Amino acid sequence: MNLITFAQSIPKAELHLHIEGSFEPELMFEIARRNNIPIPYNSINEVKAAYNFNNLQEFLDIYYAGAGVLIHKQDFYDLTYAYLCRAANDNVKHVEIFFDPQTHTHRGISFETVIEGILEALHDARKNLDLSSYLIMSYLRHLDEDDAIRTLQQSLPYRDHITAVGLDSSELGNPPSKFAEVFSLSRDQGYKLCAHAGEEGPAEYIWEALTLLNVDRIDHGNRCLDDLKLITELSNRQIGLTICPLSNDKLQVVSDLSEHPIKTMLEHNLKATINSDDPAYFGGYINQNFTDLITPIGLNEQNIIQLAKNSFQTSFLPDTEIETYL
Ligand code: HPA
Ligand code: ZN
Repeated sequence: MNLITFAQSIPKAELHLHIEGSFEPELMFEIARRNNIPIPYNSINEVKAAYNFNNLQEFLDIYYAGAGVLIHKQDFYDLTYAYLCRAANDNVKHVEIFFDPQTHTHRGISFETVIEGILEALHDARKNLDLSSYLIMSYLRHLDEDDAIRTLQQSLPYRDHITAVGLDSSELGNPPSKFAEVFSLSRDQGYKLCAHAGEEGPAEYIWEALTLLNVDRIDHGNRCLDDLKLITELSNRQIGLTICPLSNDKLQVVSDLSEHPIKTMLEHNLKATINSDDPAYFGGYINQNFTDLITPIGLNEQNIIQLAKNSFQTSFLPDTEIETYL
């Protein structure tokens, strides 16, 4: 078996996936049509041509616009179930999915509509695809902390269906420190904690996520490599880093895939994992992320096994379940 086939067939967990970022243009057109919402593109090819980003903000502007056609519970169900089928096909056995409630509540869509559509799809995938899943509610960091606190309150009736909270959107100028209170309140509710940090922002933001938010896991975290003390801290504590290679390439976090630092991270004994982030926008799902990296950076069989193991070990699954995958 060659390395690509090996990477594709190995059981894995996906820990960094925004459900709104799995919105394929074909489904976007279909849902826009049935909801009678005009979109500024005439064809799938025109949509794909627009997916050319110089930085995170250019991507986010298009990503939020795309999410604007999601109105009904069925729309959220269809979006989620389509992703879950693709994940199962890539031998993903467990997935921890981000959703951005504020992207929808700010457009007048209720929290209930969003989460109930997603939860029903997760339920059906457990049954039909044998795919285990957790949900992570992500706060939008370009909004203020009071807005995140209101979102936390809206989530409480669904407390048992949400495993963790996260922090995403425009990183520069919106440091983790801005959200210390809502993260503390979220922990009081029993939620696990993670935050995007060190994607475009500096290593200092990763320190803040660790020391001020007390996160269990860092999303991205690429910039940790700028700070030797931080590398040691992350390695000693075996904090998971959910790395997203194709996203890093498309958002110019790395200059080229061949420059991707994930192998260096493994060499530092960091708990790096491979994930797809927003696969409909960045050119591929989790297996594509493995496949496209193997040759440019020379990932070997042992690296691939380590990355797959890391994905289960740094998941929010209970230890007894993690052991069954190792
Ligand atoms: N970074 C920050 N916010 C996001 C991302 C990301 O990669 N994807 C969706 N929201
Ligand atoms: Zn992300």
